[in-house]
Amino acid sequence: MALEIITDIASLRARLAQERNIALVPTMGNLHAGHIHLVRLALQQAPCVVTSIFVNPLQFGANEDLDNYPRTLDADCEKLAAAGAQIVFAPSVSEMYPVAQTMCVTSPPIANELCGAARPGHFDGVATVVMKLFNIVQPQTAIFGKKDFQQLFIIRELVRQFNLPINIVAGDTQREDSGLALSSRNGYLSNAQKQEAQRLHRTLQLIVDNVQQGNHDYAAIEAQSSQYLTQLGWIVDYISIRSALTLMPANAEDKELVVLAAARQGKTRLIDNIEFTLS
Ligand code: PAJ
Repeated sequence: MALEIITDIASLRARLAQERNIALVPTMGNLHAGHIHLVRLALQQAPCVVTSIFVNPLQFGANEDLDNYPRTLDADCEKLAAAGAQIVFAPSVSEMYPVAQTMCVTSPPIANELCGAARPGHFDGVATVVMKLFNIVQPQTAIFGKKDFQQLFIIRELVRQFNLPINIVAGDTQREDSGLALSSRNGYLSNAQKQEAQRLHRTLQLIVDNVQQGNHDYAAIEAQSSQYLTQLGWIVDYISIRSALTLMPANAEDKELVVLAAARQGKTRLIDNIEFTLS
């Protein structure tokens, strides 16, 4: 079946009117194997899969890469067709925001920590566009990646607090053989930076090993790891060991943990995380 590319909301609603079970995969395009993994999960959930491709201005800060963010619709559609996806929703900015979006979703306080600390307003922008996409597509299921752990957490909160009848399915982070998490932003890296970028995941894995071996001085582990990466030329936004259930800083009683990091190679900001349990 040929891939249907739909750019306006009215046509999408008309196309979806007869569908009873829809899975939505929201993306900003420049699709890689991580996104395609989510599409495959979606195809297991519902007979009708909508992949949205929209670089959402609302979630980019003034000094961020909105203008340079890679837009590769033709290549994206080839990958989606090969994966067996049926419908792409690729609206323009004026289709999504015909008037200034003066009503927005306010994210919970956790949105000001971790990635939100360096990106004020980012998660309000994410939550607002996801709410709009949910209302436009009205899916039964929506798929998000664990790569953006804090985003996934906030979307789950959006669904819970606004009573949205949508099942959120989380996809595992897809990585290169080196461990580097796939990301559209990896394309900004020089060869040398890409080589060094592998260290982010390895550092997180060392932290997991360290904690699982009984070191529970989380503040010291975070400080040492951050210092280590800084010495190697990284600009570290944060390395943080948190409860995977609440995303609050982990304490001695927490067994379900996640270690999250954001750090820059030059201008390119990379994020990664590993979820783990303590017995
Ligand atoms: P984007 O960065 O394009 O990511 C789209 C989805 O792909 C997100 O759910 C993200 O967590 C997931 N993803 C990215 N890299 C992944 C990887 N290596 N493995 C598995 N999943 C991965 O996240 C956004 O877009 C936007 O904020 C969006 C939710 C679309 C709202 O604009």
